[in-house]
Amino acid sequence: MAQLPVLENAFLVLSNGKVQDYGTMDNFNRNAWPEHEQKEAHGRYVLPAFCDSHTHSVFAAYREEEFVMKIQGASYADIAQKGGGILNSANKISTIDEKSLFDSSLQRINKMIDSGIGALEIKSGYGLDLENELKMLSVINTLKEKLSIPIKRTFLAAHAIPAAFKDKKRDYVDEIVNHWIPYVGNKGLADYVDVFCETGYFDVGDLRSIGEAVAGSNLQLKVHVNQFTSIGGIAEAVNQKAVSVDHLEVLTEDDVSKLKGKNTIATLLPGCSFFLGIPYAPARTLIDNNISVALASDFNPGSSPTYNPFFIWSLACIKLKMTPLEALNALTVNGAFAMGLGHSHGRIFKGYNGTLILTKPTPSIDYFPYAFGENHTQEMLNI
Ligand code: NIG
Ligand code: FE
Repeated sequence: MAQLPVLENAFLVLSNGKVQDYGTMDNFNRNAWPEHEQKEAHGRYVLPAFCDSHTHSVFAAYREEEFVMKIQGASYADIAQKGGGILNSANKISTIDEKSLFDSSLQRINKMIDSGIGALEIKSGYGLDLENELKMLSVINTLKEKLSIPIKRTFLAAHAIPAAFKDKKRDYVDEIVNHWIPYVGNKGLADYVDVFCETGYFDVGDLRSIGEAVAGSNLQLKVHVNQFTSIGGIAEAVNQKAVSVDHLEVLTEDDVSKLKGKNTIATLLPGCSFFLGIPYAPARTLIDNNISVALASDFNPGSSPTYNPFFIWSLACIKLKMTPLEALNALTVNGAFAMGLGHSHGRIFKGYNGTLILTKPTPSIDYFPYAFGENHTQEMLNI
């Protein structure tokens, strides 16, 4: 992860949405590309676009009122108990119409693309019943149709226990397993299924039932796990061949050993740690154990209201102690693999996708995460 080849004084040829060629300027033959418009990039970098593999970027409204409660001392759990948190977003999803949800989400996602994101995963999960989950999935599917970047669709089936099932969580999980997952899978409405495996939400038994339902479908598993407590979800997720386990702020030695040598990617979300004031995931321990680490924004109104990939890059360096190049690999190629796009996105390779970042003038790669809080993207190249 520490290695990322850099070409200085380079040329790069883009056309038909793909990287056609690159090399150093002394090997550049302008005549080979007579029809191509030329752009000068002196003093700038061309970077692979960020591949944000964990977002909740379709939502009805921000929740800045909870932010103020938090400043006054309330925890994520306190807020959830008062009907805030995921249930607050769910209430708002149940009253918004599909067109308004689409319009507001599109506006946000266009800003994400302008800031350097070239592939995006989006989760449902604020529906909490089939009708509203399908509304969210329908919006995600329309975004996928309309946007020029690839969108991976995650059915976050088990996100929180709705009030109507307060003391009947098992019935809710049965509903998800027996009806929702087969329906969404058969209709081809999603690529992944996600579960929030956490104390007070869904336990390891629930994760197992859901994982088994996913194994019998054409979908794959991703898991929110070890955000606040370590309850055995990582071992189960690895057993169920989850594509990724996401969060990992609270990680035991046993959890780390379960991830070692496996294909499941550890997706870290430092924006959430920053915003909620919870521990940062032990990225160094994971990397030192040769576990693939991806970074994502977790953009959502409750625990990470930013999508800014450059800020996530800074947090990864400053708080997770990742080097600038490790973090860039985690935000690009490893993010791409965490959403099944590792062979077409996240790297500058011949034949790979040609949506790339042209940065503002910059002294070095290290400067990007160092000068935190800035958007260093000058423009997205998308030819
Ligand atoms: O990834 N942890 C669960 N889900 C989201 C937060 C959702 C919310 O608070 O709206 C997360 O942090
Ligand atoms: Fe999340």
